[in-house]
Amino acid sequence: MALWGGRFAAGSSNMFRQVNDSLPFDQAMAAQDMEGSIVWSRALAKAGVLTSEEQQQLEAALSELKAQAEAGEIDFNASGEEDIHSFVEAALIDKLGDVGRKLHTGRSRNDQVATDFRLWCRTHIESLKTDVTAVVRSLLHTASRHQQAIIPGYTHLQRAQPIRFPHWCLAYVEMFKRDLSRLNDLHARMNQCPLGSGALAGTTYPVDRHEIAEQLGFTSPCLNSLDAVSDRDFVLELLFTASTSMMHLSRLAEDLIFYNSGEAGFLQLGDSVTSGSSLMPQKKNPDALELLRGKCGRVFGHLQALLVTMKGLPLAYNKDMQEDKEGAFDAVNQWHCCLCIACEVLDSLALNEERCRIAAAQGYSNATELADYLVGKGIPFRTAHDISGQVVLLALEHNAPIEDLSLEQLQSVCSDIDEDVYPVLQLEYGVDKRNILGGTSAETVTKALYQELENMDKL
Ligand code: ARG
Repeated sequence: MALWGGRFAAGSSNMFRQVNDSLPFDQAMAAQDMEGSIVWSRALAKAGVLTSEEQQQLEAALSELKAQAEAGEIDFNASGEEDIHSFVEAALIDKLGDVGRKLHTGRSRNDQVATDFRLWCRTHIESLKTDVTAVVRSLLHTASRHQQAIIPGYTHLQRAQPIRFPHWCLAYVEMFKRDLSRLNDLHARMNQCPLGSGALAGTTYPVDRHEIAEQLGFTSPCLNSLDAVSDRDFVLELLFTASTSMMHLSRLAEDLIFYNSGEAGFLQLGDSVTSGSSLMPQKKNPDALELLRGKCGRVFGHLQALLVTMKGLPLAYNKDMQEDKEGAFDAVNQWHCCLCIACEVLDSLALNEERCRIAAAQGYSNATELADYLVGKGIPFRTAHDISGQVVLLALEHNAPIEDLSLEQLQSVCSDIDEDVYPVLQLEYGVDKRNILGGTSAETVTKALYQELENMDKL
């Protein structure tokens, strides 16, 4: 039976029920709804609305329901209730009769749903932090397995300058650390309790909102009842954080798909995260990585959908806001799965260090080193850049790398070039010369890697 039947002479249409009912999905917040109700019953008892005996009956029944819900023993859908809030109230009335009918005193589903959803987000933020940390850990372990490897670094997907492989891993570590810090920030900002805001205007009963907030693990109560029931910024921030992190996963995936291609051949992926072709027996496709990239679309879509849902809503609660949940549930679930699969991919990959090295040395990626060498001889950088470009052109004509040109050939472009240019043109030279904070030298990268491994426990 609906919570609000008294004013209605006729029942709802089936199609209206199908559109209106949220129990099929908001049952995911059952535990949070019951926790919130336990704390609300205590607040009502303290405010003199419930006797302590009534409160104890409610708390015992709610605790029992919560245990059943957590054990998967409740068939929510069979109840025919409208949403998780009506379901819990109906179950209490079923068990306790009039005592169950007292719980909703001074409360609205509007402050209730805002509280439940914040609690739900908070729980998931904690487990997502563990998932993101696991990706950081996998990246660091992957870097540790190939500490000395050198890969080509790209701009415009053209070989640009060689880099140490751990440098690439540590770039993604930085991105995921920022995702973690976004989760921490949003946790701190959303950790205010709406309960006690009523439908929109506050409640007439003298409940202690500070105590309610504290008992539910919030830092403080929300300060404005209108805002408390109609704010969904916390969901948007979670969706934005999920979207940003999915974008990071997608770029990681894109790099690895390319490194794994037959053309690059820089690495091998494990059988456990790849699949074959129904027709072409030789194929081993990087499906896990393609799905990391592909699932971004739906997560970004959920962020966009909620922004659009919220943008035109007048204060305070409107039923449009019921649309906040399914997208967020899906986004969180997809993000969680993608973080886990990213770990599996990273843990399974084996770098072909020799192929990486050969590719890194190709493509004239030591041309900057030649320009810097000429700067060392007193030539202004812009002129040195031009000379180095001419050397590349000459080398291209001979179909050879710069270091294979003879001294005479090099000197035909610039007489300042000497025998001492050859060591400068070696692969490691250019890499390890970038021995500056944030650079790619073996020393800097190893130091950064160990620093991160040490920090890992603090994440
Ligand atoms: N199922 C609703 C939601 O998710 C709960 C709040 C209903 N409030 C109301 N005034 N109808 O938003």
